[in-house]
Amino acid sequence: MSRVAYVNGRYVPYAKAAVHVEDRGFQFADGVYEVIAVNQGRLVDSSGHLQRLERSLAELRIGMPMTRAALLVVLQETIRRNRVRNGLVYLQVTRGAARREFAFPADTAPTVVAIARAVDMGKAAANAAKGVAAITRPDIRWGRCDIKSVGLLSAALAKQAAKEAGAYEAWLVDRDGKVTEGSSSNAWIVTRDNVLVTRGLSRAILGGITRSAVLELARREGLRIEERAFTVAEALDAREAFVTSTTSFVMPIVSLDGKPIGNGGPGLLAGKLRALYEAYMTGHGAGRPEWEAPFLAPPEAQAR
Ligand code: PDD
Repeated sequence: MSRVAYVNGRYVPYAKAAVHVEDRGFQFADGVYEVIAVNQGRLVDSSGHLQRLERSLAELRIGMPMTRAALLVVLQETIRRNRVRNGLVYLQVTRGAARREFAFPADTAPTVVAIARAVDMGKAAANAAKGVAAITRPDIRWGRCDIKSVGLLSAALAKQAAKEAGAYEAWLVDRDGKVTEGSSSNAWIVTRDNVLVTRGLSRAILGGITRSAVLELARREGLRIEERAFTVAEALDAREAFVTSTTSFVMPIVSLDGKPIGNGGPGLLAGKLRALYEAYMTGHGAGRPEWEAPFLAPPEAQAR
């Protein structure tokens, strides 16, 4: 089946799908994106993702290209035309195409692109069953990691380093030796006394939609939670570690820089949270309460 992309109001075959050479996404990484999971043909947490998209755009002073409801229709139609039942849909919005100049152009229409692809869920389940490795890398990103920017070069470099080390993810470490997040995921540990720890929201991390959902599920289970930064040493001493993201759901990390975490196997709590998250995903829309995903820390925490 030939794939179809949505580009600026039209559904076009992949071979014909293109944006302008002077698109500011291409020239300046002047744009934002979202990745949304598709489960049994349904979008998972679409309202949270579209809310975060709107926030990212507002932070860059790019107007919403259309209403959230209209964007939802585009995403659903992209999934439908590509016959994706389980997979991912990517939405990218840039400031648009304009004569190359650093400052914003006046009156340029944003560029909107959506693509969808199926994902082999068996492979993800196999990874989750045995757990995956992570390495650490210095966090060399910019100061607004709360914006889901298409400027992903440092994330790509970190992920490539992980791949070359035979690892699944790279955990990024700030100048104080504390883990910010994964190159494309949020980072979590479970301490020896069973406290779930993940970094609090600030400009140093992306407020993951999966992170919000897992925090809420953990709260409902009555688990002890601390939203704070943790060091690499603390992670190595932890009982468990895992990452959360749209693409990984809840993925146990069993080693960091080649050293085992806990007993070197997937943790109990990570397994439990993954099961709860899967149930949450498949129950999506069927009486499941929606909550507003908090992406932004309170103002006093933002500068951290
Ligand atoms: N990445 N942190 C970073 C830096 C990310 O890129 C992502 C997601 C997350 C997790 O966010 P969420 O739970 O909303 O997916 C955290 C996506 C999946 C990607 O770029 O492919």
